[in-house]
Amino acid sequence: MASGLAEFVVIANRLPVDRITGPDGETTWRKSPGGLVTALEPVIRRKGGAWIGWHGAAGEKLRPFEHEGMNLVPVPLSEEEVEEYYEGFSNATLWPLYHDVVAPPEFHREWWDAYVRVNQRFAQKAAKIAKKNAVVWVQDYQLQLVPTMLRELRPDLRIGFFLHIPFPPTELFQQLPWRRQILEGLLGADLVGFQMPGAAQNFIRLVRQRVGHKTHRDTVYLPDGRTVLAQAYPISIDAAGFEELARTPEVIARAAEIRESLGNPKVVLLGIDRLDYTKGLRQRLRAFGELITEGALDVDDAVFIQVATPSRERVGQYILLRDDINRLVGRINGDVGRIGQQPVTYLHASYPREEMAALYRAADVMVVTPLRDGMNLVAKEYVACRYDEKGALVLSEFAGAASELKSAYQVNPHDINGMKQMLLAAINADPRENARRMKAMRRQVMENDIDLWAANFLRELNAVRDPHAKNPRPV
Ligand code: G6P
Repeated sequence: MASGLAEFVVIANRLPVDRITGPDGETTWRKSPGGLVTALEPVIRRKGGAWIGWHGAAGEKLRPFEHEGMNLVPVPLSEEEVEEYYEGFSNATLWPLYHDVVAPPEFHREWWDAYVRVNQRFAQKAAKIAKKNAVVWVQDYQLQLVPTMLRELRPDLRIGFFLHIPFPPTELFQQLPWRRQILEGLLGADLVGFQMPGAAQNFIRLVRQRVGHKTHRDTVYLPDGRTVLAQAYPISIDAAGFEELARTPEVIARAAEIRESLGNPKVVLLGIDRLDYTKGLRQRLRAFGELITEGALDVDDAVFIQVATPSRERVGQYILLRDDINRLVGRINGDVGRIGQQPVTYLHASYPREEMAALYRAADVMVVTPLRDGMNLVAKEYVACRYDEKGALVLSEFAGAASELKSAYQVNPHDINGMKQMLLAAINADPRENARRMKAMRRQVMENDIDLWAANFLRELNAVRDPHAKNPRPV
């Protein structure tokens, strides 16, 4: 961004860095582990691009800074905006509404007002730093009004939007008092990307019904001659990076150490999730607990490791869930555990990528059972780490990943008995059968990584017809 202006701009609720405070109180930044930054970092570097996002602390203003060749532009949020825009409208209205209302969404007008205000702030920042004709890529449900706000400020820009979570069925979306504004906000983009084709169709149908624009297949025709394309781009992971990590001697040794410290049980089952009510943690723990109680699994043979990463800890539904899971784990271990033999190892903590890779390698059965999930990258990470073609994946049919990972042991997480049967099937399968399944899943994951996802989206964004320009602009 030598000229002070960027040719490529990413806008996301969070900056792709975490703040680390050293022992003497000085702070540094460390790149966050997510796949999105892995994919976009090279593009940002090449283009002298910038990433606009919140730095995670309330009430603090920071100047733009550079980190490992990326220009980072922090957006401040006041304490009240964190409560109303982030914890409120984003995570207690939109998040549950978009995830099949598995928790009841709350509708509050002050939260909406804060959402509008903060979206406007993000749009203004982008308008200020984007070069003429730049490409701007807006990410996720926290920022659905940004595309139109930005287009009003800067009609020259090429704007993409990607929704990382599900887009709900029309019947549920209609509950939202601000449904029309959200649809109109998204229509500021040239290309709106979703995880699944069904989500793109939901969006197109709602635009036709609620906003009244003409649509044909995946295209919306706006009165000013502009078109908006809505398509599916299933997101992925840095697959080669995970495999490489899983192959290191340190990770291999750590995986053996993990099994050893559990008493070398015959079967290790693993769940790794953000502690979120969409993830189906209760259902999976109940299924496992019943298998032990009923004697289908022996407490000496089977251990379930559940890692639950702390998340959105001040939001009511998350506080309730945390207590609920604590109680459930306590009950299972209390009822069926023995001295030195706890069936569930529950870890409420986040771990670095190396430890995750070791856990993936240590697990015979990976259990991913969300009630609704846009994609679920943990399922793909497990597959990427199992280059040994060992291990089995039990996967909810309500995760976006299920349509790609067809060889997983697929389950309906609401059906506890069905889930118990599938867990046993995965545990007792002939290793050759599990190797066959893993091979098929690995082909899918290793070939369709996050770089390909970003390249596909950006290529399409560049190709979208611009009614005002003779030639498409280069990305
Ligand atoms: C999901 C969302 C992301 C979000 C992440 C972590 O993956 O799609 O937009 O950043 O959860 O949640 P948090 O609220 O901590 O940013």
